[in-house]
Amino acid sequence: MAKAPLVVRTVADLRRTVAEWHGRGETVGLVPTMGALHEGHISLLKLARERTSRTITSIFVNPTQFAPNEDFDKYPRTWDDDLAQLTRANCDLVWAPTAREMYPDGFATYVIPGGAAEGLETDFRPTFFRGVATVCCKLFTQTRADVAVFGEKDFQQLAVIRQMVRDLNLPLDIVPGRTVREADGLAMSSRNRYLSAENRARATVLHRVLKEVADAARVRVPEALEAAIAGGAAAIKDAGFRQLDYLVVRDAETLKAFDPASPRPGRALVAAWIGETRLIDNVTV
Ligand code: PAF
Repeated sequence: MAKAPLVVRTVADLRRTVAEWHGRGETVGLVPTMGALHEGHISLLKLARERTSRTITSIFVNPTQFAPNEDFDKYPRTWDDDLAQLTRANCDLVWAPTAREMYPDGFATYVIPGGAAEGLETDFRPTFFRGVATVCCKLFTQTRADVAVFGEKDFQQLAVIRQMVRDLNLPLDIVPGRTVREADGLAMSSRNRYLSAENRARATVLHRVLKEVADAARVRVPEALEAAIAGGAAAIKDAGFRQLDYLVVRDAETLKAFDPASPRPGRALVAAWIGETRLIDNVTV
């Protein structure tokens, strides 16, 4: 029978266990999560297992990345199911600090990322990446991970984390994991649980539109891309989304403007609201 992971709730206990591992020459892979795990998270854990001898999954619904009007309170918390999945996936340790352990009284130091954090998500969630970068920086130093795995589903987040690691010389490798999709193309996300059956069916339009926009971008003719984006935006609205935050193609490395005339890789990205749920997705160009 698979062994349940060790659940650790204080930085002191975490440090002790990781120091023992490192002392024996073992390597540590981290998958940062906010819980409500799905196959996408488990695929990231597999990538970590392939690279390191020990794996940690952090489960922490990080208050600093939610704005006051966002879904912090209703974010799904599915501890028993998460633990069952992590047991089956042979995760060694679950790092599940309380909010007080992560942000003790008097906490006042934040990481404020620029560069890749500018635009896109930041236009709509101005303090989001400050919260993500701060908690990830803390997760990296708390776990002393050698490798951390992040999903491409949150493509801008992955770019922000890579930049932070580079800029601050943090001593770990960031490994990207491919987006895992449902059979009908919808990207797996903890927030999909919010969707009614009707909106769940409608949400498949996002992946369809992204693929069309990426195909148009590959033609490398600006007018073709503009037309595909306009058509895609209309299709998303027609499918029942109430607001489109963005549907764009960006340079895949810098996330700045995509130049159709250049051979550099691009990325098509979308964020849109259906009912009270905001979904994001992206595909390679
Ligand atoms: O992608 C997420 O689940 C979160 O943003 C992360 C990276 C765990 C930080 O809280």
